[in-house]
Amino acid sequence: AKRARRQPEAVIVGMMGAGKTRLGKEMSQMLGIAFEDADEQIERRIGMTIPKYFAKHGEPAFRQVEYDVIDETLGSFDGIYALGGGAPMTPAVRERLRNYADRGGRVIYLLADPSEAMDRARRGGGRPMLDGDADARWMALYEQRDPVYRQVANVIVRTHGMTPKAAARKMIEMT
Ligand code: S3P
Repeated sequence: AKRARRQPEAVIVGMMGAGKTRLGKEMSQMLGIAFEDADEQIERRIGMTIPKYFAKHGEPAFRQVEYDVIDETLGSFDGIYALGGGAPMTPAVRERLRNYADRGGRVIYLLADPSEAMDRARRGGGRPMLDGDADARWMALYEQRDPVYRQVANVIVRTHGMTPKAAARKMIEMT
């Protein structure tokens, strides 16, 4: 499909700890293009950390801000764009991603080894969706979300056992 207007080179979805931000940055450096991260955009907009915002306003308010930044960015930014893990669970975000893919956009499902992603997410902290038993929460979310990521993505990149550089190269080759 021909590109009608500015839109990201690629959008990355996947679980917390999969490496969306890390590998998205790596890809953008290899390609010499811009990188944007939805969680960072959200924190700039709300003026506080995501866990603080969750505690103060709750998840639905967070999902609304998340939708707003994604909606704006999908129509105006042309680099690599990493979304937060929960973003595709919002129907309006899925609708936007479908529209982006219909215009020729690439949506990459970054599929890391579950135990490694879970470890990284737990150790990284700052993730209110993992409050309580972080590993059990991660696994329950993974089971819910994996089919949805597969539904919105048009490329699935499995990075099990790869170095970050090799994984980023594979993501570039496959898009
Ligand atoms: C969330 C994932 C986080 C962040 C927020 C909610 C989720 O992003 O958007 O804590 O619901 O999975 P990462 O996937 O970058 O950790």
